[in-house]
Amino acid sequence: MEQQTNNRGFGFYLKTAILIFLAGFIVLVLSGNYTWFSKTTPVMVINDMDDQFKVKPQVSSSFFNDGRSGRNPVEHTVSRNGSAYPLDKPDFDKADSLVGSNPLDITTASTREYVLSRGKNRFEAFCTPCHNYDGQGNGSVVARGFQNPPNLRDEVTKAKSDAHLYHIISAGQNIMNGYGDKIQSNDRWAIVAYVREMQKLGVKP
Ligand code: HEC
Repeated sequence: MEQQTNNRGFGFYLKTAILIFLAGFIVLVLSGNYTWFSKTTPVMVINDMDDQFKVKPQVSSSFFNDGRSGRNPVEHTVSRNGSAYPLDKPDFDKADSLVGSNPLDITTASTREYVLSRGKNRFEAFCTPCHNYDGQGNGSVVARGFQNPPNLRDEVTKAKSDAHLYHIISAGQNIMNGYGDKIQSNDRWAIVAYVREMQKLGVKP
């Protein structure tokens, strides 16, 4: 009997190893893993809801006739956690008696830290596009043509009462819209406290 000889050389094993590596690589790419060389959506065999029909921020919508993805609340309704602010922009006189003073306690170190960090967080989420991070105006939308708001650290705004600041945040002032139905009352007061804190820094060039 002729003895069987193993004539598979090094080349054969190398090629097999390369093929297995390539096959594994292709499976990985196709299986929907984002890879280091591409940020585009890969072919997904099972897409695990990665790519879904949803509204993305700042993008128009083909679902509504007017093309806007953000919707206004239905007339005469308020959001689940919101409340309707009863005063209109010019009602400063009524604000004095209705609004009162800041109910949040910032006299102890821990409540003060909490209130101010919450105020900072809300201010940076809602107000910075116009008033900027330092409250001095020239926010990002101003560069795109929106009217530059007054410097919140200026004496003029500093001289206004807490009730008036709360009223302006809630009802708006001239071309600034109100946030009464968008930011909860306590958060509006936290913003007032944070604005007061920024005002201590004075106007800086
Ligand atoms: C879309 C831009 C915009 C956003 C967002 C905005 N504001 Fe204003 N704000 C303005 C403009 C413009 C004025 C000046 C209105 C006027 O002509 O009286 C103003 C005025 C004010 C004033 C009155 C200043 C003064 O002394 O007359 C306060 C206080 C104020 N904003 C606070 C806030 C706070 C707090 C927020 C976030 C909750 C906010 N604003 C969000 C544009 C904006």
